[in-house]
Amino acid sequence: MAIQSVRGMPDILPEQAGAWRYLEQQAQRIFNAHGLTQIRTPIVEDTALFARSIGDVTDIVEKEMYTFEDRSGDSLTLRPELTAGVVRAAIEHGLLHNQTQRLWYQGPAFRHERPQKGRYRQFHQIGVECFGIADALMDAELIEMTDQLWKQLRIRDSVTLELNSIGSPEARAHYRDALVDFLSARKDQLDEDSQSRLERSPLRILDSKNESTQALLSDAPSLMDYLTDDDREHFTVLTRALEEAGIDFRINPRLVRGLDYYGRTVFEWTTQALGAQGTICGGGRYDGLVEHLGGRPTPGVGFALGMERVVLLMESLNVIPDAYQTQADVYLMPQQVECESTIRRLARDLRSQFPTLRVMTHIGGGSLKSQLKKADKSGAEIGIIIGQMELESGHIVYKPLRGGDQETLTEAELLHRISELKDA
Ligand code: HAM
Repeated sequence: MAIQSVRGMPDILPEQAGAWRYLEQQAQRIFNAHGLTQIRTPIVEDTALFARSIGDVTDIVEKEMYTFEDRSGDSLTLRPELTAGVVRAAIEHGLLHNQTQRLWYQGPAFRHERPQKGRYRQFHQIGVECFGIADALMDAELIEMTDQLWKQLRIRDSVTLELNSIGSPEARAHYRDALVDFLSARKDQLDEDSQSRLERSPLRILDSKNESTQALLSDAPSLMDYLTDDDREHFTVLTRALEEAGIDFRINPRLVRGLDYYGRTVFEWTTQALGAQGTICGGGRYDGLVEHLGGRPTPGVGFALGMERVVLLMESLNVIPDAYQTQADVYLMPQQVECESTIRRLARDLRSQFPTLRVMTHIGGGSLKSQLKKADKSGAEIGIIIGQMELESGHIVYKPLRGGDQETLTEAELLHRISELKDA
């Protein structure tokens, strides 16, 4: 039997890769426009890094990590997210000494979850981490970047922003006590999962999917009431900045996120269009993480989007530009062996004159009909045919492949025609 891919780790095939490239290019353009620089960190890290940053009693660390012992006996883990590695690298290389950093990254991450549409065991994130800036205007700018990306990708109408402040550690500790008191008195009404979280990670009960638990929570104390004045002021600066930028949001007091490093701002972008896996992007502030991982106290804030989910959403909305779903703009067809070197020279000229034009030459002979079929499949708009007659007269046949009449042109006329089309 042929060997298959690992469950939950899908291939990205050529027909899908264009959408991925489109997403990557649009994201990078926006990051570039905001003065971000890229960081690339390894896929494998010391296991302790994730346990310490994401938190021992999170689903990710308890149930989902790909952890293994390497040949030297060290415990290593395939990264389940990229923030921890970026923070580690920033500390290790002194990127945080008396300077701020605004970094972006992209790459695969691994979580051993139950695979379904939009949820994979190898998936890909694009994300941003900013260090050294405690001001909520940084949080706002990050959210604005994501908002711009959705607009650029034409998926903005299908996503909504949910926002919360989970406060500083002191505020959370007080709230935690109040919540545990409230829920302990009603423990028998909680679902099993929430019961087991009650002592270990009570805040996670807030985003339980269980309906009766959710109903119970409607009378529970609210985290918002426990925020310190500074937390509140921070959140006000953020919401005001978002309003100024015309970005709609919904405050969701139950939004806590599944990683322990957050404090104050947390946010998620969600969509109804993908079923159960509707969160396309999540992030927030983590002012304690750098210190917790051994660096000097340094505020941090960031987000990551799930590329698979964004691509699924773009596909479902049919918004991927044709140019990212086709192979070629121009397809050149030599009708005899004698025409091949002219075709190849013409292709070379076109590529050098129009560096972004996608030029494919037909290779391998065959009838005009079969060549035109391949031209059609390439997605090209323009076919160029050279046969014996054209070869002798120094012309080419210009054939619009998506409707229109064919014409015989000189090469100079062809170049002119293409430059007109490119300008249009
Ligand atoms: P996260 O919410 O765990 O946050 O993941 C961010 C995004 O990655 C999710 O919103 C989702 O789109 C995608 N994602 C997560 N798990 C899967 C999966 N199994 N299959 C497909 N997509 C998935 C983080 O990872 C944080 N590091 C984000 C962050 C950066 N916070 C601050 N800086």
